[in-house]
Amino acid sequence: MTTIDEVHRLRDAALARLAGADDQGSLEAWRVAELGKSSPVMTLMGRIKDVAPDDRPAFGAAVNAVRQAIEAAFEARRAEVGARALAAELAGDRIDVTLPGTHPPRGGLHPVSRAMRRICEIFRDMGFQIYQSREVETDAFNFTLLNTPPYHPARDMQDTFYVGDDVVLRTHTSPGQIHAMRQYAPEPLRIILPGTVYRNEQITARSEIQFTQVEGLAVGRGITMADLKGTVAHFARRLYGADRAVRFRASYFPFTEPSAEVDVSCMLCDGLGCPVCKHAGWLEIMGCGMVHPLVLANGGYDPAEFTGFAFGGGVERVAMLRYGIHDVRYFWGNDLRFLEQLR
Ligand code: DAH
Repeated sequence: MTTIDEVHRLRDAALARLAGADDQGSLEAWRVAELGKSSPVMTLMGRIKDVAPDDRPAFGAAVNAVRQAIEAAFEARRAEVGARALAAELAGDRIDVTLPGTHPPRGGLHPVSRAMRRICEIFRDMGFQIYQSREVETDAFNFTLLNTPPYHPARDMQDTFYVGDDVVLRTHTSPGQIHAMRQYAPEPLRIILPGTVYRNEQITARSEIQFTQVEGLAVGRGITMADLKGTVAHFARRLYGADRAVRFRASYFPFTEPSAEVDVSCMLCDGLGCPVCKHAGWLEIMGCGMVHPLVLANGGYDPAEFTGFAFGGGVERVAMLRYGIHDVRYFWGNDLRFLEQLR
């Protein structure tokens, strides 16, 4: 026969095991073992009726008290484990609003875009409009209509990416001149044409297969070389500094006659000679000239009535001088270490 002392020992053993239940799973296992149908307490409950009538009230009360104690202990433990789990979850979620925030990465304009915007701004102030022209051109627009027929020696100046038999990636922004003239002739025209150009060249610190140019074109009645010189010199001084000297050197381009190349006195050594200007004191910034009569005619203007000037130059060069960059490959290499410095 089970004694009341034994009932109490059973209770103490159950409560001792409860201390080891520290999550939902082990708590549930403990509940089944200690309060379930075949648990020791429940087994004892079933035996109360077998106890001698004199002892039965005391024994029954003891077993009931133990069962209630075990149930109460279970509820208390379950609340405790639940509270601890909640506290742990909250601790993981906690934010300290006094901590400094994390900065989202900030983008910026590419140095070539910045140089391009500056250039466009200067010409805009002189009344030039921006004309966007295509990057994929026919051979005719890139060369022939610009007075550079097949086998003309000037085609050697540009190694070309051919997309199809007669389709090329433009090697310069000049073909846009023809598109613009055909669109606006016989109205007078004053535009700049910014854009990307492509050349099938060896990639070196000084030459890339993809780069950026700005072209300029003015067509009207009575436009002279003096207009060209004044426009280009004003542009060069606004871009590189009011005290820059500007000079025009006779040159050759198939689409202009006469043609010239434009130099500015080196802004780094003030014309004294340094590694950037290769000790010449001058930096070449663009090619230019009076639009060739054949090109005017190809654009739809009567060369007996109209004249015009054109110019074109590289934009990477402008950014290189401005930021002291010595290798043109950085521009399109997509190296964030480079781009972030120039943000
Ligand atoms: N298209 C020439 C080049 O790519 C640059 C140029 C020279 C453009 C003279 C012009 C010009 O409009 O008149 O090197």
